[in-house]
Amino acid sequence: MLKFRLLLFLAIFMNIVIIGSQWGDEGKGKIVDYLSEKAEITVRFQGGNNAGHTVIIGSDIFKLHHIPSGICQNKICVLGNGVVINLPFLITEIKQLQEKGLSVKDKLFISEKAHIITQKHQDIDKKQEENRSNKVGTTGKGIGPCYTDKVSRFGVRMIDFINNKDLIPEYSQYYDLIKSFIIDTTYFLNKAIREGKNIIFEGAQGTFLDIDHGTYPYVTSSNTISSAACTGSGIAPKHINKVIGILKAYTTRVGNGPFPCELNNDIGEFLVNEGKEFGTTTGRKRRCGWLDLFMANYAVDINGIDYWVITKLDVLNKLEEINVCIGYEYENKKLISYPSLANILENVKPIYKKFNGWKTSLENCKTFKDLPIEAKEYLNFIQEFTNIPIAIVSIGPERNQNIVLKDIWS
Ligand code: IMP
Repeated sequence: MLKFRLLLFLAIFMNIVIIGSQWGDEGKGKIVDYLSEKAEITVRFQGGNNAGHTVIIGSDIFKLHHIPSGICQNKICVLGNGVVINLPFLITEIKQLQEKGLSVKDKLFISEKAHIITQKHQDIDKKQEENRSNKVGTTGKGIGPCYTDKVSRFGVRMIDFINNKDLIPEYSQYYDLIKSFIIDTTYFLNKAIREGKNIIFEGAQGTFLDIDHGTYPYVTSSNTISSAACTGSGIAPKHINKVIGILKAYTTRVGNGPFPCELNNDIGEFLVNEGKEFGTTTGRKRRCGWLDLFMANYAVDINGIDYWVITKLDVLNKLEEINVCIGYEYENKKLISYPSLANILENVKPIYKKFNGWKTSLENCKTFKDLPIEAKEYLNFIQEFTNIPIAIVSIGPERNQNIVLKDIWS
């Protein structure tokens, strides 16, 4: 037995959590797709079709809302118990993937404990948003009301629907198709861990949209941080080997709420256009601003980030000068921790460090050494200030437009 355990330990297998370190839209889809080449399973553990993960492979663009990005590498995909699911939306997504030659047959497994988003949830979401004085700017997908029903114990789980399709008559037409995907994913994932399979847990949204630790009340309705991978899929914390924080080289936010480093000027507009910053789910224009390392350090603490993946560095290529936020001042005092009051966050003054832009394309850079000196300075500063090494720098939307500094799987 001891020998068997030792063998299992020596065979390198790993469970990795991928987390958005800002307000979502950091480019998690592309990185999960890239990393899932060496994974057997990818798992979504929270959120619903408010998420929009984009994977670009040649001329094919996959916009995934429910299904984990590992599907683009033909990997097994799991929707864990922490996810909330819109059945017609999921079925449309499955069909769209099929049209692009990707079948989910024998590859998609949905937790019997996942809750179902109904039309009622979507109607309430829209109505609540209309009546709220502090508008959150939700995606209108019924996410909040579905989680509210879950916590109030009025929710309908997949297993409840499978046992009685009359619980949601509007969805009875999907019963036969959906039934084939429903399993006990907690058992499935723990068995996979025992068998030494590599698993990626794909976070949705981002750290600062977390219901507990985000910029409340301008947040989503689930825990978006690394520890949610455990509660949202039924695996134990000891099985998480690495946490990867995805950090966009600048900051964006879609929806309302405080954004200390927001740029309401030409540079902000430049980032919107250069970075194609329009929501994958709602098409809304994203608000853009400088990279905020005060936020990043908070994300490091609450997620236990081991490595950064820096995305969209190429979007900064044409800038003369780049600022990075290294702290906040409030009422003439430097803050030591991230404020919990939206009111304070709205009135903080970011402290910036200036960097020279590199003003050249990064297209031909294959290694860190190939990067212009100014880009290296920018990246080195991120590592030093946060005390977290960078594993990958993404320099374009395509699957392989990456500079790899460290093999995350080793
Ligand atoms: P909800 O998740 O639809 O309730 O929206 C709550 C807030 O989270 C709004 O500000 C949304 O714009 C934001 N949000 C939800 N999902 C995403 C996402 O996947 N990316 C970025 N923002 C999101």
